Amino acid sequence: MTDLDLAQLTAAALEVAREAGQLVLQGWRSRPSYERKASYADLVTEFDLASERLIRSRLAERTPSIAIVGEEQGGERSEAPTWYVDPIDGTVNFAHGHPCFAVSIGLLVAGQPLAGVVVAPALATEWHGFVGGGAFRNGKACRVSETTELSDALLATGFSPVMRRHGSPEDNVDAFCRVMPQVRDLRRCGSAAHDLCLVADGTYDAYWERKLATWDIAAGTALVLAAGGRLTNLQGAPADLTNGYILASNHHLHDALLPLL
Ligand code: IPD
Ligand code: CA
Ligand code: CA
Repeated sequence: MTDLDLAQLTAAALEVAREAGQLVLQGWRSRPSYERKASYADLVTEFDLASERLIRSRLAERTPSIAIVGEEQGGERSEAPTWYVDPIDGTVNFAHGHPCFAVSIGLLVAGQPLAGVVVAPALATEWHGFVGGGAFRNGKACRVSETTELSDALLATGFSPVMRRHGSPEDNVDAFCRVMPQVRDLRRCGSAAHDLCLVADGTYDAYWERKLATWDIAAGTALVLAAGGRLTNLQGAPADLTNGYILASNHHLHDALLPLL
């Protein structure tokens, strides 16, 4: 795929995500009803479903040769160029009226994140970019931070609903407790897509999480790479976006964080 292809695909996805963001915003703080999916912590509202329907139909019109996998309707995973769509990332926040949620559309080719758009309508903030073409926050070029010391760093993490059984060695609580005393502060805002964008624009110096889904991180990881960041799994090997154990950082803090995770 050429840079021109990626620029055009990114521009198309951004328009689609903005439209979906406006749709979703209509339901924000309306106390939308929800259903539980796999657990009490994994929700779906009518706005998740409507957002994905809209995104699928717009992407099918504008980029008909690109396959689509979405959180609510699924799709065929393959090595071919594929949009990974999270119609609302941060549905628990959305359902409770918290502003931290986003529409996220990322492009994977052979499993690698190449382009991404994330629109957070209640925060009036959007990010777009592609690997090799830079990352942008509200249209302005952005980059990962230059922080070199953990004691100067602001980090983020999250707790996947499938990992929340207390006492599971993988529930991320142990890692949280190891990292917390080492850093200036550590946030947990509830949208992986948004967390990754805040690494891409230099707000956070690093972010990690366990057991994310591909649609949670396709766009955000592309943006971190586009913004000059580093992305690995929690052992420092190349990240596998199908199992979702990731550390995304500004490079400088990466090696210091890996043993803590
Ligand atoms: C969730 C968010 C959250 C993360 C969870 C995801 P959803 O996505 O990204 O930050 O901790 O693991 O499932 O369910 O709101 O689309
Ligand atoms: Ca998600
Ligand atoms: Ca979602």
